[in-house]
Amino acid sequence: MTKIFVTDPAGRETALEAENGEPLMKVLRAAGLGIKGSCEGALSCGSCHVHIDPATNNLLEPPAEDEIDMIDLADGAIPTSRFSCQIRISPALEGLRLSIPA
Ligand code: FES
Repeated sequence: MTKIFVTDPAGRETALEAENGEPLMKVLRAAGLGIKGSCEGALSCGSCHVHIDPATNNLLEPPAEDEIDMIDLADGAIPTSRFSCQIRISPALEGLRLSIPA
């Protein structure tokens, strides 16, 4: 299990113990934090958009080209925007902080 910290659209922070190997989108959706994941990770819906805290962005591998292309189209994108369906939980993500845009 890997501990991550998530701020929901209302500004409340939740600490989650996430199963290693799971897509981050599924962890957030299961926790009821406002992530839909409508396309189940096919990188076509944008409903799994999150903002990574810049202080922990270095824990993540950079996004692939197809993810970058979709981020460019996302409402409210910031330099550390990611699509959570493209991130797999691993021990390297211990302490990751992110927020879910309203
Ligand atoms: S779940 Fe649809 S783009 Fe991530």
